[in-house]
Amino acid sequence: MSELYEHPYPSAALAAEHPFVEYHAPAFDAEEMAARAAAFYELMESRRSVRLFSDEPVDASLIEQAIMTASTAPSGAHKQPWTFVATSSAEVKAAIRAAAEEEEKVNYLENRMNDEWQEALAPIGTDWHKEFLEVAPWIVVLFEQRYEQRPDGERRKNYYVKESCGIAAGMFIAALHNMGLATLTHTPSPMAFLTKTLGRPENERPFVLFPIGRPLPGVQVPDLARKPLEDVMVRVDHLPNEDKGV
Ligand SMILES: Cc1cc2nc3c(=O)[nH]c(=O)nc-3n(C[C@H](O)[C@H](O)[C@H](O)COP(=O)(O)O)c2cc1C
Repeated sequence: MSELYEHPYPSAALAAEHPFVEYHAPAFDAEEMAARAAAFYELMESRRSVRLFSDEPVDASLIEQAIMTASTAPSGAHKQPWTFVATSSAEVKAAIRAAAEEEEKVNYLENRMNDEWQEALAPIGTDWHKEFLEVAPWIVVLFEQRYEQRPDGERRKNYYVKESCGIAAGMFIAALHNMGLATLTHTPSPMAFLTKTLGRPENERPFVLFPIGRPLPGVQVPDLARKPLEDVMVRVDHLPNEDKGV
């Protein structure tokens, strides 16, 4: 297959034991790669979290498609340890808003958030009001599956659950943005109430809540700047001196 590898994957023994298929990855020439890279960056750079949504309905098929996209995320041992719980019910959204505002009132009005946290949030200007949880046509709550609960009652371990759910969440946000829907990565803290409100089983814990819809026309967002490449990337082209015995 390739002379590059002394130990090819899968080994003959592995392939005899488990099924493998040839993977046909999308491929582009150099020019197209650069064009696609720039276009995707531009698209993602235009994403913003919004806190005012239009109440215009959004077709359930779009939400399903975004969840299917998120669910293509890599996950520890391919356990896909996530459940996306979606609701467009006015009753359920109202219950989520009421419970979220209860918790956020304690955070903001009774100083459950320390000074440093409040200082970091000041330019964003969030407070305990969460009206958008009722106005947005959809709420999707991503639950992490702390362990796998099989239908026969058996429990199995999941691996790297938070990392896996974090990646799936990012892909979900990208999928929504790509189809012209807006969301807010929302973590009303603590979020345990969502397990009860949404009737989820014992093995699931809320990870992030996403109100989803079209942005309200004229919506404003904080005038934030994103870090430049040199602040988020370090290139390493040789080992540190001590590792070379210098
Ligand atoms: C894990 C996480 C939790 C967040 N929780 C909240 C939240 O509870 N409420 C809120 O208004 N924004 C929340 N945000 C949104 C951030 O404030 C927002 O992403 C950040 O200000 C950058 O803005 P942008 O998303 O428009 O780039 C959260 C973001 C992340 C990644």
